[in-house]
Amino acid sequence: MWFNRRDASEGILLNKTISRSETAVISGLMTSSLVLVAVIVLATQLAPSAGGSAGDDLRSLEAEFYRWREMDSPEFTTETGVHTYDNTVEDFSMVSLETRKAIIDDFIRRLSTISTDALTTSEKYSYEVFNDTLSTFSSNHQWRVYGPLNPLNFLEGDQIDPAYTVRILNYETKQDYENYLSRLQLWPTKFNQYITRFKEAAKNGHTYHRVSVDKLPGQIEPLLVANPETSVFYKPFTTDVDKLPISITAKTDLRTRGRQAVVNLLDGFKGIKEYIEQDYIFQTRSTYGVLGLPKGKDLYRACLKWHISVDLTPEEVHQKGKEEVARISSEIQMIMRKRKFTGTVAEFYKQLKEQPQFHLNSADELLKEYRYMVYERIYPQLSRAFKNIPNLNVSVESMPNDGTGGAYIAGTADGSRQGVFQVNLKRPNETNTFSMMALTLHETVPGHHLQSVYALTASLPDFQRNIEYEKYFAVPYHFPFYTAYTEGWGLYAESLGEYLGIYKDDNELLGRYGEEIFRACRLVVDTGLHYFGWTRQQAITYMADHTPMGRNEIEIEINRYITTPGQACAYKIGELKIKELRQTAMDKLGSKFDIGDFHSQILENGPVPLRLLEKIVNNWINDVSGNAATSSGGGAM
Ligand SMILES: *[C@@H]1O[C@H](CO)[C@@H](O)[C@H](O)[C@H]1NC(C)=O
Ligand SMILES: *[C@@H]1O[C@H](CO)[C@@H](O)[C@H](O)[C@H]1NC(C)=O
Ligand SMILES: *[C@@H]1O[C@H](CO)[C@@H](O)[C@H](O)[C@H]1NC(C)=O
Repeated sequence: MWFNRRDASEGILLNKTISRSETAVISGLMTSSLVLVAVIVLATQLAPSAGGSAGDDLRSLEAEFYRWREMDSPEFTTETGVHTYDNTVEDFSMVSLETRKAIIDDFIRRLSTISTDALTTSEKYSYEVFNDTLSTFSSNHQWRVYGPLNPLNFLEGDQIDPAYTVRILNYETKQDYENYLSRLQLWPTKFNQYITRFKEAAKNGHTYHRVSVDKLPGQIEPLLVANPETSVFYKPFTTDVDKLPISITAKTDLRTRGRQAVVNLLDGFKGIKEYIEQDYIFQTRSTYGVLGLPKGKDLYRACLKWHISVDLTPEEVHQKGKEEVARISSEIQMIMRKRKFTGTVAEFYKQLKEQPQFHLNSADELLKEYRYMVYERIYPQLSRAFKNIPNLNVSVESMPNDGTGGAYIAGTADGSRQGVFQVNLKRPNETNTFSMMALTLHETVPGHHLQSVYALTASLPDFQRNIEYEKYFAVPYHFPFYTAYTEGWGLYAESLGEYLGIYKDDNELLGRYGEEIFRACRLVVDTGLHYFGWTRQQAITYMADHTPMGRNEIEIEINRYITTPGQACAYKIGELKIKELRQTAMDKLGSKFDIGDFHSQILENGPVPLRLLEKIVNNWINDVSGNAATSSGGGAM
């Protein structure tokens, strides 16, 4: 899964790249809405500089857009390692839903004045990503009164990982503390804005199903400590303050203000908790899927399109899912027959998981095994399918927290920070060794690590490099993150393990199929819930019948699908698209097809919408086959 901060289940790129170019300096403390007004003025004054090349104009507009994003999403900006806006928080006022649209429309207008004729091929692609980023946001403005009005759920929000939100700020100077204090003081205002939005959602009948918010009060409860000095938010005011080169009186003053800010913040959390338990929960929607909301089916189509970035209808996605489930099932059943196993897929996997031969007993052994897979079993094979592989290594380390099985955290382009494959070693005997290879391929090479180092060395503009994989609730009125590309690639990398002959036996293949069929089921279940009116029980039964997953895991998954319509479809759709494009290229190019060049085309432009990926590959096919004309993309999958 999928947040910047905590990769939950399938290791999205945790994008904490530090990329500083120029920053608009806003001095003093402005409220976010004042900043927005300032930007509108700024935006209209800075037209693309006359006389520059189209490429320069594009780069300068993209840079300006990213500077606006940094200002507009200050918490995200802190996550990227840029500390210019540590003193503020994102504006969740109702009016910001309108002002952001106005700002983006102005960027669109100015982008349209840049002629694409004179751009290089990679500039053209960047132009299209920029245009897609802006127009996806703007064209979904009509949905602002749905998801964006429900800004917290059991997967997302300020209650999920407060230690992280505190940790990412700096605490080295007095000014750092002033910034943190200022952010702390603004948080309760933001919480009140959340409540205003939730109330508006309830008034319009655009709420979540209760499974999305049931756990919220319980997540907030542990934060409401009686003594504010024991709060995670107060932590920076404990021992770290002593290291500051300031007087004792000044330290005491910081602590006093810190304490008061934390008291107010906890009151804010309490307010949300009470509102959810005493009010919102009684107004949640009655249907599991969004189809029960006014214009719900249209909303689902818009969410689905946002996530998969290609034009497929819910019917087509549902059908694709069923076909894939049948295809992968038959692979699994072939192995079951070989072994004369007569039960269900779930039973088959259950007995596999119980076999001692698939377990290692210590964290050390497990870590050694993962490293052996990456450096000895996979890396030596890579050059058979990739060219010009950037020389940036990945390290394999123990995950500090007890999160998911594995996660990938991107490094930096200059190699000063390596990409890291974090593996969960907390309960070594619960890891099934037959599933480790699929996970490793997905997270490291040729999966997310390889994908990330190609993108890092491609010198993409900041807005393409630093993507805010957050605020899923706001979809489709949100800037796209091209999960279908990134996670589609991760899943495709699992299939490359077969192409490269890396899976050593049927057991490792079963590990791979188990991962794959679960992604295929999502196409069926997500569309089932949100478009075809499936009940939660129907969805659970479908997953239990076709995947190796346990009941508990399935229930959490289903609650996630109910909460973020369309999101879970991105993985399989992305992988199918890459495979389809490879097949098209092979058919059209015959002996001229080179898989290394094909993969370079996919990876060298960084994350893009699948619509554009199709165009990139078609242009390449035309170049290789000697046709001058460029294709406009298109085609069914
Ligand atoms: C930008 O995107 C919009 C919306 O998809 C599209 O109508 C327009 O043609 C695009 N502009 C260019 C120059 O590609
Ligand atoms: C990558 O790092 C690992 C672990 O530090 C090391 O064993 C391996 O040789 C390195 N590979 C390259 C190509 O530097
Ligand atoms: C794993 O080990 C722990 C501690 O030794 C034990 O309690 C648990 O039952 C074991 N689990 C499995 C699946 O073997």
